Amino acid sequence: MESKQLSRAEALGFSGCRHACHVMLYSDTKSRLFGRTPMEHIVLMQMRFDGLLGFPGGLVNPSKETLEAGLIRELLEEIGTEIPVTAEDHVESCFAPGSSPSSPSSSSLIIHFYVKKIEEEQIREVEKAAASTAADHGLEVMGMVRVPLYTLLRGSGLPFFLSHSFIGNARSQLIRSLLRLGLVAPDRLHQALAHALEMHARSAEDLQAALAFTEVQKRL
Ligand code: APR
Ligand code: MG
Repeated sequence: MESKQLSRAEALGFSGCRHACHVMLYSDTKSRLFGRTPMEHIVLMQMRFDGLLGFPGGLVNPSKETLEAGLIRELLEEIGTEIPVTAEDHVESCFAPGSSPSSPSSSSLIIHFYVKKIEEEQIREVEKAAASTAADHGLEVMGMVRVPLYTLLRGSGLPFFLSHSFIGNARSQLIRSLLRLGLVAPDRLHQALAHALEMHARSAEDLQAALAFTEVQKRL
């Protein structure tokens, strides 16, 4: 279930809760996959230390810094690049899944989400810095990933990508952003999600087979 959206001001009113800010960086591109499929846009996500896909960013302390200053600090650690994210780039805030708005406490988490368009050249710089100078590379961040926004045969591309596991509500943040910005048409996104669900079922079978295999191995 989706949490109710909060305005930035409403969210900041919950001063006793924890706050985290994340950003979706994206650009346009003229690149073509295999020299034919137009990529159109680049959207950056990351493989996190916990094995889940998410957006760069992290915990901020609104009593000591603005949300955006905290986000810029987190980005410097995770992608090794200073990105000037501003309040104008804020798109949504809500309680993280599992944090109930009816009984906010110091363990509740409010998630603030930003979207920022940059140049393709900057995307390349972010990717380079994220793997070289970023303090968190190989620690909290296992690597930056580009979201494949195209759909090729048999669910290759966006459908497969969407079938992976994401932190919190990062998958919804991605989907809502793709729609809001018109980066993927609604019918194509709908089809991709339907395909991702099928993939998910197939992955479950695959996992069952791997589980059965290790069951045998551990007895040897
Ligand atoms: N939706 C909901 N929750 C999210 C999302 C999201 N899209 N992205 C991240 N979170 C949660 C994470 O589970 C974490 O609890 O927000 C919190 C902070 O985000 P991180 O990016 O993980 O925070 P960061 O400051 O970069 O890393 C600190 O070290 O102590 C650990 O578990 C702690 O994940 C935290 C990490
Ligand atoms: Mg983080």
